[in-house]
Amino acid sequence: MSSPDTLPLLDFHPETESFRDEVLTGLRDDPKHLPSKFFYDERGSKLFDAICELDEYYLTRTELAIMKMHLGAMVDALGPRVRLVEYGSGSSLKTRLLLDHLPRLAGYVPIDISREHLLHAAEEIAAQYPDVPILPVCADYTSDYRLPDPDGDVERTVVYYPGSTVGNFTPDTARTFLTHMAKQVGPRGGLLIGVDLQKDEAVLRAAYNDAQGVTAAFNKNLLRRINRQLEADFDLDRFRHEAVYNAAEGRVEMYLVSESAQRVAVEGVGVSFEAGERILTEYSYKYTVDGFADLADRAGWSVETVWTDDQELFSVQYAERKA
Ligand code: AVI
Repeated sequence: MSSPDTLPLLDFHPETESFRDEVLTGLRDDPKHLPSKFFYDERGSKLFDAICELDEYYLTRTELAIMKMHLGAMVDALGPRVRLVEYGSGSSLKTRLLLDHLPRLAGYVPIDISREHLLHAAEEIAAQYPDVPILPVCADYTSDYRLPDPDGDVERTVVYYPGSTVGNFTPDTARTFLTHMAKQVGPRGGLLIGVDLQKDEAVLRAAYNDAQGVTAAFNKNLLRRINRQLEADFDLDRFRHEAVYNAAEGRVEMYLVSESAQRVAVEGVGVSFEAGERILTEYSYKYTVDGFADLADRAGWSVETVWTDDQELFSVQYAERKA
């Protein structure tokens, strides 16, 4: 049993060295890029929550509708006494749906890179589910770390990876990551994953260029974070948000574009920008059902069931680790 002030946080201190090194490496590269995983400081996580509420951002509400519609079948697929590992801090309604319905859950392990967001979400969950052992892990979930063991019997480990966050990796990196995940869950392990699907370009462009500018603020928050953590002097007004769909690669690409020629200092290192020069900040891949099945297969998973909405905008998929 967990109470909010006694959560056994397993902290792998994910952000210390890697933030500085990865930012400087990306800004020195040509073309420039920054890792999208660093969007999620406290402010960035809140901005992302606001994105999920936007009319244009169909992903969250569609995934939730699919979960509600097919919850019984999902719960049957997962079975009893599951150690449920969620990549992401799990503050969402989708997680609560699973926690409400999974029989005799052995433990719930939310993993997140943002300590504040993780602890806040885990404390809320612990208060609402006093009988479920809540075992939060602060880590970069693409790195090596160990999963905590709940007391009591564990039938199997299932990863819950909602939101199509898998789309933020290139397919090669996603394959490596899914392979690592298959090892981590062990024999008979499962995966319940949200995967965004390919669709009309106009829908995608609107989803990543919302009218209120929340996505733009989310993108620019990365520069704000670099200013704060690395004593940098990015002028946020001299960069603009841009999101385009690359149909050949099946991905949305998000950039910060320098409005003029300028020089920025990051920890005393000078970084020059030409007018119009872009920093790539995120890929968001969109899959076909067959394309994702193929990727999963090459990573040691067999996709057993795919649930979608009427318009086939989004999918929730259940996969089992191949023997
Ligand atoms: C977290 N991830 C799945 C989001 C996406 O849609 O790729 C991040 C995001 N970027 C812009 N809007 C939302």
